[in-house]
Amino acid sequence: MTQFPPLRNDLLLRAARGEKTERAPVWIMRQAGRYLPEFRALRAEHAFFEICQTPELATEITLQPIRRYSGLIDASIIFSDILVIPQALGMEVLMNPGPSFPDPLSTPADVDKLRQNVDVDKELGYVFKAITQTRIALKGEVPLIGFCGAPWTLFAYMIEGGGSKTFTKAKTWLFKYPEESKALLLRIADVCVDFLVGQVKAGAQLLQVFDSWAGELSPHDFALFSLPTLNHISKGVHEKLRQQNIPLVPMTLFAKGANHALGDLAKDAGYDVLGLDWCIEPSAAREIVKGKVALQGNMDPNVLYGGREAIETTVKRMCEGFRQGNNGEVGAWIANLGHGITPGVDPEDVKWFLECVHKYSAGH
Ligand code: CP3
Repeated sequence: MTQFPPLRNDLLLRAARGEKTERAPVWIMRQAGRYLPEFRALRAEHAFFEICQTPELATEITLQPIRRYSGLIDASIIFSDILVIPQALGMEVLMNPGPSFPDPLSTPADVDKLRQNVDVDKELGYVFKAITQTRIALKGEVPLIGFCGAPWTLFAYMIEGGGSKTFTKAKTWLFKYPEESKALLLRIADVCVDFLVGQVKAGAQLLQVFDSWAGELSPHDFALFSLPTLNHISKGVHEKLRQQNIPLVPMTLFAKGANHALGDLAKDAGYDVLGLDWCIEPSAAREIVKGKVALQGNMDPNVLYGGREAIETTVKRMCEGFRQGNNGEVGAWIANLGHGITPGVDPEDVKWFLECVHKYSAGH
């Protein structure tokens, strides 16, 4: 493995391991994105997946928010997309402007069209290269997060052929072909395992799994179709890293909309951190998970449109909330939004959000 510069800010990793920190580490989902003028400038010159596939460009974009918010932001996340796994499975994915699949999976017979054994080094080696280059370029300023999409969320994209409001096609599969669906979900999960292990080998210091559409499933169906694949991923990653004598890294699960499952996820899903959306009070989440996992989140991203006063009040409340139910201590909490930041936000308001977290999450 490459020797990297020593890490100078380990707040994120300490919080992810459940340690109390002097203040909450903070980063933002989709922090390298269209709200940044420097991102839009580079994006105007290059197609979305071209950036993902060109390590120099991916590194540059990953570093943009780190440069702009130096000293205020505590993590970087590699610039890529969850849809690189469907691409590795042999599917074509366009970004125009949202994701679209010209040839989605219509029936279980279409699964035969997918690549049988995905060699992640061959298909996704460009992500590993980007991670290694980014770790070097970061010079130890903050840790680097690797990620992948969760099987249910990827399955939904691969069948719907893009985003959806109703998920009719993906759910038709679940209810009409449950066994074939479970088999495909596990096949995707196996690729997730190899992809995440490869990211750690390349230099990722924490892994996050995005189950963005978890909340579209009933609690019963989440437990039946998504949860086993999330367990499979955490177990598989830990096993493979141990087999290869590679130190384990913390793992975060962001199962958006699945707050009903927080108790089960904290008990034995194998993740160190659970990401929260804004639909649960931090103190309530703390009560549910007890001290078993660290929490991440959870300000409604739209508060960033509300101006400085709204941002400050909400961050203050959020910090107080994460203190409650935990003996009045801030600890084992990673501040973030409850979902990705959106394109119209003013980067100066983001700076204010970060400053407010620093101010109000400091321990007493
Ligand atoms: O967080 C980061 O800064 C790292 C990069 C990152 C992107 N996508 C870049 C991106 C990450 C972690 C993702 C994850 C992702 N991608 C998710 C899970 C998180 C979530 O928001 O729920 C999902 C569902 C996707 C799929 C996806 N990619 C969609 C639905 C879209 C279009 C709509 C949108 O939100 O922009 C994308 C495109 C995308 N991925 C952009 C970026 C910066 C914008 C595309 C562009 O530049 O034109």
